[in-house]
Amino acid sequence: MTWRDYYSQRLVSAEEAVKHIKSGDRVVLGHACGEPLLLPTAMVARAEELNDVEVVHMVAKGEGLYVAPEMEGHFRHNGFFAGPSTRKAMAEGRADYTPIHISDIPALFANNCLPVDVAMITVTPPDQFGFCSMGVSVDYTFQAARSAKIVIAEVNPNMPRIFGRSFIRVDEIDYFVPCELPIHENQPATITDVEKAIGKNVASLIGDGSTLQMGIGAIPDAVLTFLTDKNDLGIHTEMFSDGVIPLVNAGNINCRVKTLHPDKMIATFLMGTKDFYEWVNENPMVEMYPEDYVNDPFIIAQNEKMISINSALQIDVLGQVAADTLGPLQFSGVGGQIDFIRGATRSKGGKSIIALPSTAAKGTISRIVPILDTGASVTTSRNDVQFIVTEYGVAELKGKTVRERMQALTNIAHPDFRNEIEEKMKAVYFKK
Ligand code: COA
Repeated sequence: MTWRDYYSQRLVSAEEAVKHIKSGDRVVLGHACGEPLLLPTAMVARAEELNDVEVVHMVAKGEGLYVAPEMEGHFRHNGFFAGPSTRKAMAEGRADYTPIHISDIPALFANNCLPVDVAMITVTPPDQFGFCSMGVSVDYTFQAARSAKIVIAEVNPNMPRIFGRSFIRVDEIDYFVPCELPIHENQPATITDVEKAIGKNVASLIGDGSTLQMGIGAIPDAVLTFLTDKNDLGIHTEMFSDGVIPLVNAGNINCRVKTLHPDKMIATFLMGTKDFYEWVNENPMVEMYPEDYVNDPFIIAQNEKMISINSALQIDVLGQVAADTLGPLQFSGVGGQIDFIRGATRSKGGKSIIALPSTAAKGTISRIVPILDTGASVTTSRNDVQFIVTEYGVAELKGKTVRERMQALTNIAHPDFRNEIEEKMKAVYFKK
């Protein structure tokens, strides 16, 4: 049978496709902006017929209907990340969080630690050779599809076709569901004066020829606006977004001196606007690979002058970083923060940076604290951190004693909180 015959025989509606989900199954959804648009809704419409279906996902861009209170008993969400649609359900005990480095997720599926019954993913229409691109979501989705007993793919012409190890053959997919809706987007963040100041401080640590990892949001976007005088920058990152385009167009990012994948921007997932998706579509400069490759610290470290830039919610004066919990509540996930910190640490000339505003809640709370909030999880340990950056400056912690770290971090706290931090710090850590 030709791939064209195979494909046309397996074209079904979303409603027909989700009939293959059974009670007790584990269903893995394509990640972030690669989340299917029709299949989750069609699955939830079958709630009355299904019990104990586990829905595994990471950054959820869809409505997350499967976590609604009335879905208890039918669906249970198991997330590698909390977000606006899943955070409340986790806090109320109706959904679960699994702590894991992004680089380790594919092995959960491949080694049957989390066997996958059904993978629901989004792909481009097949090319002339019978290959579909997984587009903006290669990450864990690639291995989920490889490991699943049943693969259901929404075939969407709006999904950009992206090079790299990002293709799946038509005969690796069981059912094809046509969908022409726009794929999920991510709009650029508004950058405040505080974020601009942080961006400027971070940019002061970035030299010509560096390879960058950065996430999404206002701080990464602010950093990018201060790189217009840098040369020969490269990208090897978990994800990137619209903010890189002006720097590529102006030649600041050209990936020319990268020591791994020269000339290429490497990522494992992408989130951006429609214009961004047009820009990455068949762009010879962009390559996507699964996250157990892109986020492997030993792969990351092969990039000389690797700079990781990540953010945090709170940091204590010892340098322990809480980036994914607010006290005991799951706010986001560990993501690739430690993968990249460890990769950058091993990289020749590399630097790892945690950049965060000095305060939260409209300036009423210091994010630099003597002791982390009760129940907070340490995302990055004090043994791993190097540079901490706020709008008030840069603290280099690597190789510094506990006492030196305390001083360096107090110096970059908001001035309104510095005395309070010092007094509490002395009372807690030093017995006279
Ligand atoms: N105490 C109380 N509230 C706090 C707080 C603190 N210490 N720190 C932040 N908050 C509040 C903020 O005020 C904000 O509330 P609002 O939405 O009502 O304004 C909210 O928590 C989110 O904080 P913010 O700093 O705006 O978050 P962000 O969207 O910039 O994301 C992280 C920051 C740390 C959560 C995010 O970068 C992350 O999840 N990192 C871990 C994963 C990672 O590093 N991945 C690798 C890169 S992809």
